[in-house]
Amino acid sequence: MAPVPISTLNVGHIDDVQELRKTKPKTIPQRFVRDMTERPTLDDTALSSPQSDLPVIDFSKLSKGNKEEVLSELCKLAIACEEWGFFQVINHEIDLNLLESIENMSREFFMQPLEEKQKYPMAPGTVQGYGQAFVFSEDQKLDWCNMFALGIEPHYVRNPNLWPKKPARLSETIEEYSEGIRKLCQYLLEYIALGLGLKGDAFEKVFGAAVQAIRMNYYPPCSRPDLVLGLSPHSDGSALTVLQQAKGSPVGLQILKNSTWVPVQPIPNALVINIGDTLEVLTNGKYRSVEHRAVAHEEQDRLSIVTFYAPSYEVELGPMQEFFDENHPCKYRRYNHGEYSKHYVTNKLQGKKTLDFAKIQVENTN
Ligand code: OGA
Ligand code: NI
Repeated sequence: MAPVPISTLNVGHIDDVQELRKTKPKTIPQRFVRDMTERPTLDDTALSSPQSDLPVIDFSKLSKGNKEEVLSELCKLAIACEEWGFFQVINHEIDLNLLESIENMSREFFMQPLEEKQKYPMAPGTVQGYGQAFVFSEDQKLDWCNMFALGIEPHYVRNPNLWPKKPARLSETIEEYSEGIRKLCQYLLEYIALGLGLKGDAFEKVFGAAVQAIRMNYYPPCSRPDLVLGLSPHSDGSALTVLQQAKGSPVGLQILKNSTWVPVQPIPNALVINIGDTLEVLTNGKYRSVEHRAVAHEEQDRLSIVTFYAPSYEVELGPMQEFFDENHPCKYRRYNHGEYSKHYVTNKLQGKKTLDFAKIQVENTN
């Protein structure tokens, strides 16, 4: 059956979550109330033991350390990627004032009147601008979140009409911030390659002109955080994702580890990094993109600034030859990354389901 054009889908009226919150509704509208099986576990005290804390990578040891420090940190990085798919980076060499500025200005952006934000509407079926992405039907549950997203690099992915004029220096700050984060992604990909025994430029070579996008997620408080989700479970369609949690934000990000949702405890000034679908495919599943979600908080709001770094839409991707042989068959087919990106943004967020696009179905030999 031919897919239904997105512009003709009936997604119904989508409430703006901040406006909804202002009306202090006595009950949460049904479209936000999750089915029993999807409702979050919020008791993070039970789960936050040192063993369940994300690995912490000291970037300065990789960039400036002596040989011994570099090797030991590369090893830590490799274990973090293989066992967690998520880690926090400290001493990342991005100006802390820049992190603070992007946080303050993003917050200011979301605090503006709705009509100001609606000058940058996210068109149905697209992912740039202000609005709720990944909504495709009237009966789909909605996330307790407002989003504002922009394509950054290469320039042809930009939609200049969506770059905000207010607050005054936000666009400029996004530009500067993205440059810093882009370098960090490039270095991390180099270290990840080295940790895998590949040449440092192995990923960059495959990627071509990498695509970079930014998304600010604002999660208002919710009177019933036990019923809603801030962001539905998903893996990221990128190669690498960099997430900044604004200062003073409550715990909200959770990752699925051994079938348990583990909360990510924010470390001041650290950045959270995770492996996306592209690296899972390239490493033939040695590194996996881990499912994660965000939960809401009863009293506090939460802001995150997320950068997605991915290959050029033009490249063909598949497992790299270092990761398969007669005994380790290819688990993913080759595909065009642009097609994958399109598939990702035209489907609702649903755990790791989008990656089925690239999976080779194992034949039942019995
Ligand atoms: C994302 C994401 C989590 C968060 O934007 O892809 O996983 O804590 N965000 O905002
Ligand atoms: Ni994500």
